[in-house]
Amino acid sequence: MNKNTNQALNSETVMASFIGKKRFVWIILGIVAVVVVAAVVIPTTIILTNKKTTTTEVTSTTTSTTASTRKSTTRVRRTSTASTTTTTTANPSMRDWVETDSMADSRTVHTASVLNNGKVLVTGGLSDTIPLNSVELYNLSTATWTRTNSMIYKRYQHSASILHNGIVLVTGGQGDGDCVVSSELYDPETEIWTNTGDMNTKRCLHTASVLEDGMVLVTGGFVDSIDHNSAELYDPSTGNWTPTGNMMHARRWHQASILNDGKILVTGGENDKGMTNTAELYDPLTKSWTTTGSMHDARVCHTASLLPNGNVLVVSGDRDDYLAELYDPITGNWATTGSLHIPRTGHAASVLTNGDVLVSGGRTPGAYDIKSSEIYDLLTETWSMTDDMDCERYQHQSSVLPNGTVLVTGATNRITTTCNAELY
Ligand SMILES: *[C@@H]1O[C@H](CO)[C@@H](O)[C@H](O)[C@H]1NC(C)=O
Ligand SMILES: *[C@@H]1O[C@H](CO)[C@@H](O)[C@H](O)[C@H]1NC(C)=O
Repeated sequence: MNKNTNQALNSETVMASFIGKKRFVWIILGIVAVVVVAAVVIPTTIILTNKKTTTTEVTSTTTSTTASTRKSTTRVRRTSTASTTTTTTANPSMRDWVETDSMADSRTVHTASVLNNGKVLVTGGLSDTIPLNSVELYNLSTATWTRTNSMIYKRYQHSASILHNGIVLVTGGQGDGDCVVSSELYDPETEIWTNTGDMNTKRCLHTASVLEDGMVLVTGGFVDSIDHNSAELYDPSTGNWTPTGNMMHARRWHQASILNDGKILVTGGENDKGMTNTAELYDPLTKSWTTTGSMHDARVCHTASLLPNGNVLVVSGDRDDYLAELYDPITGNWATTGSLHIPRTGHAASVLTNGDVLVSGGRTPGAYDIKSSEIYDLLTETWSMTDDMDCERYQHQSSVLPNGTVLVTGATNRITTTCNAELY
């Protein structure tokens, strides 16, 4: 616009110098020039400017429409994933969970351990209220289960630990009657079970952790309606158990996590006073316990996962608990992190190869066992729903296979021998 105005002014200046000679002609030409500028150049410019404005508006409208369509599509997809069990058959390649071979026995409150040879060893548990001594192996190359030798004793609510020499130590648990003191060893090469030393105390619903020096620490547990605060150590070189310091709190259904500094963090659980939010640390060097920061919430049948950054993520652990928290071993304090979409207890958790945490199944408000699973994003500290599993699972196990796939085994008692294992 300015340029055109200048052009018009220049024409007038030029015009004035010629006015003396051929005033009339130039006045006419001057008027024509002004009229041409006014009639053609200015309107054209306005039209062009208008066109540009219009084009811009159209473009931006299109962009925002596309963006909002995308957003709402995503939202619809998430909602349907979160709230329904359908949408599974339409496109099988989109499924997060896939079926795999079923175990011969259905089981819950069993153990699942990834052996050094890559196979998954599943021991004991309850099958329709019947205690099991049966043991099965999952070979991920063939994606099939085979039976191996049974344990000497039936056990559920027991523990299984892989010793530094690759042998598996199975401890305590409940058989036909009370919780037991006995332990046995499984050699993956010979597939043979042998007895090893008895614990000093009967235990079920305890924890077992393999320490850096190869000793195994068991903590707490339950027997004869009494919760324990005692702990003991298994020495693989002698096969003997020795009591080590007592915890401050008696606990069952608690969790024990091995921190990067070698200490063991014990969290939550319950005793005759109810659920607890307390946490304590075992130092293998001094063989003693110290109290550390308490969690914001009391938790039982929760999960505790060591993250790649050394923090521990505890998840839910009550039927109406959406809260997850992070323990920082440096400060000894807890901080709340992203909340779950669905509260759960008796669920399972696995740290995926990228550091994210997969939480599956469990029991929700109303005592419903659930198929839903969700993933904790390590970086954003938020949870997102995945597809549902094929079956409701409660008190099941979740194992990360050597190829990064997660194998969940077992389910609620009422589930039969079909649908007792699937892969994420
Ligand atoms: C798993 O099965 C494959 C194929 O039969 C076999 O070659 C492999 O040795 C098995 N793995 C173990 C650890 O036995
Ligand atoms: C890992 O092994 C499982 C079981 O055989 C298989 O279904 C899955 O496709 C494998 N994943 C990868 C990434 O190879």
